[in-house]
Amino acid sequence: VWSKVETGPPDAILGIAQAFRECQDDRKVNVCVGAYRDTQGKPWVLPTVRAAEQKLLENDDPKDYLPIEGDTGFITEAVKFAYGQNVDLSTVAAVQTLSGTGACRIGGEFLAHFWENKNIYIPTPTWGNHWKIFKECGLETHPYRYYDRSTNRLDLIGFIEDLEAAPEGSIILLHACAHNPTGCDPTLDQWKRIADVLERKGHLAFFDSAYQGFASGDAERDAAAFRYVTDRKTIPVLLAQSFAKNFGLYGERCGTLSMICSGEEERQRLLSQLRCVIRPMYSSPPRHGSSIVKTVLSDSQLAPQYYEECATMANRIQAMRELLVKTLAEVGSTHDWSHVSEQIGMFAFTGMSEEMCDQLTKDYAIYLTRDGRISIAGLNDSNIRYVAEAIHAVTDG
Ligand code: LMR
Repeated sequence: VWSKVETGPPDAILGIAQAFRECQDDRKVNVCVGAYRDTQGKPWVLPTVRAAEQKLLENDDPKDYLPIEGDTGFITEAVKFAYGQNVDLSTVAAVQTLSGTGACRIGGEFLAHFWENKNIYIPTPTWGNHWKIFKECGLETHPYRYYDRSTNRLDLIGFIEDLEAAPEGSIILLHACAHNPTGCDPTLDQWKRIADVLERKGHLAFFDSAYQGFASGDAERDAAAFRYVTDRKTIPVLLAQSFAKNFGLYGERCGTLSMICSGEEERQRLLSQLRCVIRPMYSSPPRHGSSIVKTVLSDSQLAPQYYEECATMANRIQAMRELLVKTLAEVGSTHDWSHVSEQIGMFAFTGMSEEMCDQLTKDYAIYLTRDGRISIAGLNDSNIRYVAEAIHAVTDG
């Protein structure tokens, strides 16, 4: 009966991760998916996450359903993490989501119902799933210029021009920090110019924040651009927040979708509609990940320890980024890799072509996305020279 169903395309990121798992080559290296690995190439469960799990076990934490909008205690901690400890909670309507993807989807569905202008502008390049999520919500997806491949730097002029040209009141998708895949963020001065246009055009800023704390190692610093835009109070803001990377809670699917509102009465109205979006989709969110984040962030001992652990991950990635550039020079690459040193976050956006990426996978069993993105977290002292030599061979060869 299903003979007319054609095979769907593999996912541009997770499809490659699957190919890596199936690869039999001993040399194989996974720099595809943005998931943290330690110095031994192993996943790392943060000690504070384990400590929180221990507490949950000792406290006999129940397995009951959460409310449709999620765990209030978790949401409060998550909102303070993103907006700052002094945020007025009555001005933020927030729900728990299935990590950042779920937050984008809930936000997109909400906007498709309640925001008049259905045009959403998405940076080029971006995390590939953004396009699919917002299209599935019924929004009209359009690209805006973000990154100039000829200079390997931000295309601020193109960015601003495209925001100016978008119809008034468009939805603008923005990466809060550590832009995926380029690792190239506007400076705070540049954010000011971007915010000026958002404000003048009445655009809505939809921030995707998947790397707070993970970019610089300082969660406060990584929130600066987002807080700058929200603090202007003249730009409608939505925030999709993920705890996958900064807490290492990839499989727990834990995040929030929030939006600024005028006060308690409006907050209750927005929450009621967000519940109406969530209930027919998945009823209510899973509780384990949110219980962990809530336990860690509300504990006076675990919270500071957590911030140190997050910085440990960010610092290791930063060290690997510098080592990659240094090793490329050591193995004889004459390319200018300075953009890789300047980028931040999980990824290096190398500038390699699709053909070069394919050759890395075919000849060297190095698995990366075909846009030339390397997940720096997959690099360590044991494989970095091999990867640098291979990159040198395909780029200088
Ligand atoms: C990535 O960009 O590799 C991560 O965000 C994982 C994913 O879901 O694509």
